[in-house]
Amino acid sequence: MTIDMLTTAAYIVAALMFILSLAGLSKHETSRSGLTFGIAGMALALGATIASLVINTSGTAESTLGLTLLVVVILVGAGIGLWRARVVAMTGMPELIALLHSFVGLAAVLVGWNGALDSHHVPADFIAIHHGEVFIGVFIGAVTFTGSIVAFLKLSARIPSSPLMLPGKNFLNVGALAGFVALTVWYIITPDIGLLIAVTVLALLLGWHLVASIGGGDMPVVVSMLNSYSGWAAAAAGFLLSNDLLIVTGALVGSSGAYLSYIMCRAMNRSFISVIAGGFGIEKPAASGEEETGEFQEIDAASVAEMLSAADTVIITPGYGMAVAQAQYPVAELTQQLIAKGVTVRFGIHPVAGRLPGHMNVLLAEAKVPYDIVLEMDEVNDDFASTSVVLVIGANDTVNPAAAEDPGSPIAGMPVLHVWEASKVIVFKRSMSSGYAGVQNPLFFRENAFMLFGDAKERVEDIIKSL
Ligand code: TAP
Repeated sequence: MTIDMLTTAAYIVAALMFILSLAGLSKHETSRSGLTFGIAGMALALGATIASLVINTSGTAESTLGLTLLVVVILVGAGIGLWRARVVAMTGMPELIALLHSFVGLAAVLVGWNGALDSHHVPADFIAIHHGEVFIGVFIGAVTFTGSIVAFLKLSARIPSSPLMLPGKNFLNVGALAGFVALTVWYIITPDIGLLIAVTVLALLLGWHLVASIGGGDMPVVVSMLNSYSGWAAAAAGFLLSNDLLIVTGALVGSSGAYLSYIMCRAMNRSFISVIAGGFGIEKPAASGEEETGEFQEIDAASVAEMLSAADTVIITPGYGMAVAQAQYPVAELTQQLIAKGVTVRFGIHPVAGRLPGHMNVLLAEAKVPYDIVLEMDEVNDDFASTSVVLVIGANDTVNPAAAEDPGSPIAGMPVLHVWEASKVIVFKRSMSSGYAGVQNPLFFRENAFMLFGDAKERVEDIIKSL
C-alpha cells in the first residue's frame, strides 16, 4: 500500500468522524462525544497530511525548509488558539467565532492567489477550470473575510449594530454578483492579474456591505451564515489544492451552517434569502421602537420569594443577561429549592436567546440543570397562560410582545416566548434600557409585570436567602 493510499484511507475515516461529530453535536446528551469525534477526526487529518508531506518530500531540498515552516506555524497557531479558547468568556464566543471565520476566508484568498501565480504546472486542458476555481475561491474567501470582520466588530460593539442603509443597496449587491460572473468569464479567456485584483477588491467590498446591511436582530443568523461561507471557502481551497478532505470538510461545514441559518431564520420569522443576501428587501421599520410605553412597577427580592413560594408552576426564561451576570448557578439552586417545595419549575428557551446558538442550554447544562425541564420555545409557549409566575432573567427581545402584536415594530413577526400570558411576570434587569435589537419592550409596562432591578446573579441569590 502506498503512502497516498494510506493518506486517502485516513481522510475517509476523518471525514466519517466529522459526520459523527455533527450528529453528536445536535443533542445535549451526545454533544461531548460529538466533540471528541471532531477532535479525533482533526488530529487524524492533520497527522495524515503531515505524514504524507514528510514521506513524499523526503530527500528533496524543499523538505527541511517546508517541514520547519510547517512545525513553526502549527505551534504558533495552536498556541494562540489554546490561549484564546482558554481566556474567552462565554459572552465573547460569537465574536471569537466570527474572527476565526475571517481567518478561513483569508486563507482561501491566499490559496487562490497562490493558485493563480503558480499555474504553470496545470495541464492546458484544465487551465480554464483552474482559472474558474481561482476566481470562485478568492471571491468566496474575500466575502467571508470582510463579512466576518464586520460581524466581529458589530458583535464586540466596536461599531453600531444598526443596519447600514445605502441607497440602492440591493442593486449594489446584485451588481457585485454580476460583476463577479463577468470578471470570471473575462479571466478564463484572458488571465490577467489586474482582473484578479479587481475581483478581490469587489469581493472584499461586497462582504463588508452584506454584513454591514444586516441589523442587530439578525446577527445570530449572520454568524451561522458566515460559518457556512467559511465552509464553502475551505471547499474552494480544497479544489485548488486537490485535497479531498478539505473539499469534504468544507462542504460539511458549508451545508450544516446553511441549514442552521435556515432553522434560525424560521425561528425569527426572517426570510432566509433576504438575510443571506444582506437584508435584501428588508425596509426600514415604521417605528423605531424606542419610545416609552407608560408606568412600570418595581418589586424587591423578598416579595418575589413570597410569590414563588405560593406558586404552583414557574417557568424561567433566561436570556443574554443571565450569561453576563453568570447567574446560571444560583438559578440552578433556586430551581432545586422550588422543586423541593413542590413547585413545578421548567425553563423556556428561545432559539436565539443569548448571543450564539444554544447559548442558554450550554450555561444551564454547566450549572447541572436537568435536561428534561429545559424546553424549547414551541414546547412551552402554550403553557404560559396556565403558569403562576414567569421569571424573565436577563432576556428582552425574546420576550417582547411587540414582536407578536405590533406590525410596525422592528422585530415584528419574530416568534417570541408569550411570557405576558402568565399570571405574574418578574423581569430581572439592571435598568429600563432596551435589548440587543434596540427595541423598547412593552412587557415592562404591563399590569402583571414587575421589574426586579440589579445584577441577575445578586438578585437570584437574594431570593434564595428570602425563601
Ligand atoms: P437581549 O435582548 O440582548 O436582552 C438582554 C437583557 O439582559 C438586556 O435587556 C439587559 O438589560 C439585561 N442584562 C444585561 N446584563 C445583565 C445583568 N448582569 N443582570 C441582569 N440583567 C442584565 O437578550 P435576549 O432576550 O437573550 O435576546 C437575544 C438577542 O440577541 C436577540 O435580539 C437576538 O437576535 C440577538 N442575538 C442572538 C444571537 C444568538 S445566536 N442567540 C447572536 C447574536 C445576537 P440591562 O442592560 O438593563 O440590564
